[in-house]
Amino acid sequence: MKNFFRLSMFTLAVSLVACSPVEDPSPVDTESMLSQNVQNDMASSSAIDVGKDYHSYANPDEVLVTHLNLDLTADFISKKLIGSVQVTVKRQQENADEVILDTRDLVIFSVTSQGNDVPFELKAADQNLGAALHIKMPKGSDTFTIYYETSPTASGAQWLTPAQTAGKKYPFLFTQAQAIHARSFIPLQDSPQVRVTYTATIRTPKELLAVMSASNDPGTERDGVYEFNMPQPIPSYLIALAIGDLHFKAMGERTGVYAEPALLESAAAEFEDTESMLVATENKYGPYGWDRYDLLILPPSFPFGGMENPRLSFITPTVIAGDKSLVSLIAHELAHSWSGNTVTNATWRDLWLNEGFTTYLTYRIMEMVYGEDRYNMEAVLGYQDLQAAINSLTPADQILAIDLRGRNPDDVFSNIPYEKGALFLREIEQKIGRDNFDKFLLSYFEHFSFKSITTDEFLAYLDVTLLSQYADKLDKKRINEWIFEPGIPEGAPVPESDAFVNVDKAREQWLAGKTSANMTQTQDWTVHQWLYFLNNMPELLNEKQLAELDAAFSLTVSKNNEIAHSWLMIAVKNQYKPAYERLYEYLTTIGRNKLVKPLYRELSKTPDGKAFAKKAFEQAKPGYHPLTISANEGYVE
Ligand code: BES
Ligand code: ZN
Repeated sequence: MKNFFRLSMFTLAVSLVACSPVEDPSPVDTESMLSQNVQNDMASSSAIDVGKDYHSYANPDEVLVTHLNLDLTADFISKKLIGSVQVTVKRQQENADEVILDTRDLVIFSVTSQGNDVPFELKAADQNLGAALHIKMPKGSDTFTIYYETSPTASGAQWLTPAQTAGKKYPFLFTQAQAIHARSFIPLQDSPQVRVTYTATIRTPKELLAVMSASNDPGTERDGVYEFNMPQPIPSYLIALAIGDLHFKAMGERTGVYAEPALLESAAAEFEDTESMLVATENKYGPYGWDRYDLLILPPSFPFGGMENPRLSFITPTVIAGDKSLVSLIAHELAHSWSGNTVTNATWRDLWLNEGFTTYLTYRIMEMVYGEDRYNMEAVLGYQDLQAAINSLTPADQILAIDLRGRNPDDVFSNIPYEKGALFLREIEQKIGRDNFDKFLLSYFEHFSFKSITTDEFLAYLDVTLLSQYADKLDKKRINEWIFEPGIPEGAPVPESDAFVNVDKAREQWLAGKTSANMTQTQDWTVHQWLYFLNNMPELLNEKQLAELDAAFSLTVSKNNEIAHSWLMIAVKNQYKPAYERLYEYLTTIGRNKLVKPLYRELSKTPDGKAFAKKAFEQAKPGYHPLTISANEGYVE
């Protein structure tokens, strides 16, 4: 890994390059790295070892895991995955005598190599990181097999009863590994700088189908034994498995959707533009490198909107709105096939390289497929999310290259890596011109293809590409400000949308009492205009105003989960009780954290609200994902 070791505050920082994963290394501008390191040192009290993964116990610099061969049985009765993983390693240091893996809540039965027991030790568990598994390197062999089982409460897996599925007949299992949960269902080197290929045999009840972030054969026989192969090296957080009453429907030549039967048709219709998105992205940013691109629709407890598991993005059902209004989520997960899955953040400090680039690409894909108006509206809404994040986060948490030492990445999740990252790229685009920036992105994805890189490696690459090519337009100091300072640099681009001008007018006129809600011209408004209308209401509205809005626009009964969310936020802030039945239903049927967490947070601010939240949470908890539980339980204590 390329490491720029940092010395302590105000001391001279020395950068040194050690065994870079980049085969075709660009010359590094040492002088500028130096100044940037010093700048970083001033921001934190002790030195960050850039490139070190503070969220893994693994020792890939000594012994590197390169391939996993899984053989797992999904036991829906005990809610456990039981079986083995055969691990192939490459010794990086000749005399390395042990390999260290990450685990969390795993039971390790034995480790063998060529029929012999291999000594191992499972260390004490840390709250955030789990437990290190030390395995003695077998002599004369580069493989060993670990026999193990998972815990029913594994942080990276959710076992659903039939009642918690759409069809109500069969159970369901899905995993969610990002950021550091793969270790709760496989003992492995759980660091994004370690890339592995994998093969798997998954054994399930006969009626169910297993799918993975690997080759999936849509025509496979449903016999309870499923074989997978992921021949491209991927980071551990992209290993994923789901099992359920899943069926497949093709959407395009390379694209299709897996879902429970009740959702299959509506999902395929909602996401029918996936193939066009794929083609548009390829045309701009280089060939799609992963063979098929399918979607898997999860039950509503899925804690995220989407997860970019390679070849098979995992998608919340809450975006099936009936009008394609929320499909930017698909563009986002698809874009990760380039930014994230092909070029990967080396540590969680570098998450913005995944999410910022992906958010930037998402806007561009939406423009290519749906036009400029959609692009502008989504960019304005994203910018407003960014402003809200800046207003609510500490300065340290507004930094793109964030210091996560001693913290759980789950607790630090925010819009900063997404929208600030995207705005930074938008500024570069505006300064050097779109075509030139697109060419840069194309070469960036190619240059670092199948590599995991740090922010510093990105900056070193920027130095020898755009910063030297466009020395008159780009400025290193400003780029460092974007990446290492809080807030939004002064003079940054401010996205605008013509389509919102009328919405602002309508809102202002209504607030001033010049028009009534039902006289407002809203017939042609899109979902994005509605979101903008609602999200920019003043904090406080009176009961009469709320009732008027609700009567005119049927907001409480909106079937669009984003509109409902925005409206329910207003309702909670103003304790508008007629919406509370819907609020209760919303909180107890949706587990997507982005939608429920702000509601719990807002409710927790008043004693009445908290009591209501507690009731909803207690009812919903058995169906919530472990991540949704841990993200919200603090609000209902
Ligand atoms: N990779 C993320 C989800 C993630 C990030 C999980 C960090 C764990 C840690 C995924 O691509 C994502 O960004 N999902 C968003 C989509 C949205 C921005 C369109 C979500 O779930 O809301
Ligand atoms: Zn993402």
